[in-house]
Amino acid sequence: MIFLKRLEEIEEAVIIRLNSISDLRELEKLKSDYLSRKGKFSLLMKELKELPLDLRPQAGEKANQVKRKLDELFQAKAQALKEKKAPAEFIDFTLPGRKSWEGKLHPLTQVLERIVEIFYGMGFEVVKGPDIETNYYNFDALNFPQDHPARDMQDTFYLSEDLILRTHTSPVQVRVFEKKKPPVKILVPGRVYRHEAINARSFCLFYQIEGFYVDEEVTFTDLKGVLVAFVREFFGKDAELRFRASFFPFTEPSAEVDIRCIICKGEGCSVCKYRGWLEVLGAGMIDPEVFRAVGYDPERYSGYAFGLGVDRIAMSKYRVDDIRLFYENDIRFLKQF
Ligand code: DAH
Repeated sequence: MIFLKRLEEIEEAVIIRLNSISDLRELEKLKSDYLSRKGKFSLLMKELKELPLDLRPQAGEKANQVKRKLDELFQAKAQALKEKKAPAEFIDFTLPGRKSWEGKLHPLTQVLERIVEIFYGMGFEVVKGPDIETNYYNFDALNFPQDHPARDMQDTFYLSEDLILRTHTSPVQVRVFEKKKPPVKILVPGRVYRHEAINARSFCLFYQIEGFYVDEEVTFTDLKGVLVAFVREFFGKDAELRFRASFFPFTEPSAEVDIRCIICKGEGCSVCKYRGWLEVLGAGMIDPEVFRAVGYDPERYSGYAFGLGVDRIAMSKYRVDDIRLFYENDIRFLKQF
């Protein structure tokens, strides 16, 4: 019977077209093409009453079956499309909001910037120098003799025979002296590198701030005044510091400066090696030999210099007992500052 064949064709056509449908609007359109009053299925139904009487029951039953099947197919497809869409379209406005992260500077950067700020207020100009240095600037010009054991004081990363990673910020003194005539009052923040055994107190890289002032009649008293002012400004009025006689090839006389350990208040702890004091800087009056190497007249000019260990100061300020924490960059550690 041709009627039954046409029913089957309709069913097949709908199944094929359903497969390629990807949104609800298309689905509605397809449904209406077949099932609306003027749709293909509905128009075919109108022919039912034109069939010979004896064929109608069978044709009617088949038509009902196909109609049920089509209804089911359309419903299932609609359901599938809605489920697929749910994640993108569904927003739950009742959920609590997510707190956004607050960006912060690294604790070492915060300390470094604060130190620079304090010295800037005392008239120091900020200058930078290269991390990769030559032997000349790092050692020779700073009066480290070729065969002097002082060269062994700092274990050095060599990049080639002559190029090294600077072991301190002092070479920038020489670079500045070569270009400028006194008076110079300069501050040099930067990274330095040492081929050292790594432990809680020392790391293979760290930060220093070099300061120096050269003019006529600069004295050791000026140096002390500047350092005491800095320490009180940074740590508070009660901060204590002491000067110990020391040696550096590029200063004479030389001193090392300790602050009373903030962590244990002088009782002794692992950060101060149970001494109660923490060494935070080296300093002294710039050696006339350094002046001669750059063409400054040592009879006319004098100057002081100091090199601050930023990491030590940061450890002290924030009561951090292991320098390595600053370089691991564990977010749980960094979030605290
Ligand atoms: N450069 C020295 C060091 O890294 C520290 C230092 C000592 C710097 C004395 C100075 C100074 O400017 O006068 O161990």
